[in-house]
Amino acid sequence: MTERGARHLVFMGRSGATSPAAAEHVKRLAARGVQVTVVKGDVSVLEDVERAVKTIEEPIAGVVHAAMDLDVSDFGVSMAAETDFGRNRCSTI
Ligand SMILES: NC(=O)c1ccc[n+]([C@@H]2O[C@H](COP(=O)([O-])OP(=O)(O)OC[C@H]3O[C@@H](n4cnc5c(N)ncnc54)[C@H](OP(=O)(O)O)[C@@H]3O)[C@@H](O)[C@H]2O)c1
Repeated sequence: MTERGARHLVFMGRSGATSPAAAEHVKRLAARGVQVTVVKGDVSVLEDVERAVKTIEEPIAGVVHAAMDLDVSDFGVSMAAETDFGRNRCSTI
């Protein structure tokens, strides 16, 4: 996306950019002139999605849904990242 001109990216995840790999990725993008916002939140929680959307000042050009949770011990939690985000995205954007 950044190679095709995207200059503003918002990432959302429950742990934010706390892992070394995530922090390094954000650093690499920023060094290339990309404005990166990291929102710590759960895509299945409407308030979290609303908070993430409120950080966005530019017109929203696209949403990439890559949240996935393969916790087979709790199918409801596992599916929430897929199904609830669809509903939250529709009511927020
Ligand atoms: N890996 C593959 O081989 C493969 C193949 C085909 C398709 N895909 C698809 O590609 C996507 C990503 O796969 P991946 O392998 O990159 O998975 P991954 O490494 O497990 O990453 C999943 C990401 O989703 C975030 N996430 C999970 N539940 C969330 C929630 N409720 N709210 C916000 N963020 C949430 C996780 O961050 P937090 O835990 O910090 O929230 C994590 O960053 C999935 O949609 C998957 O179906 C993957």
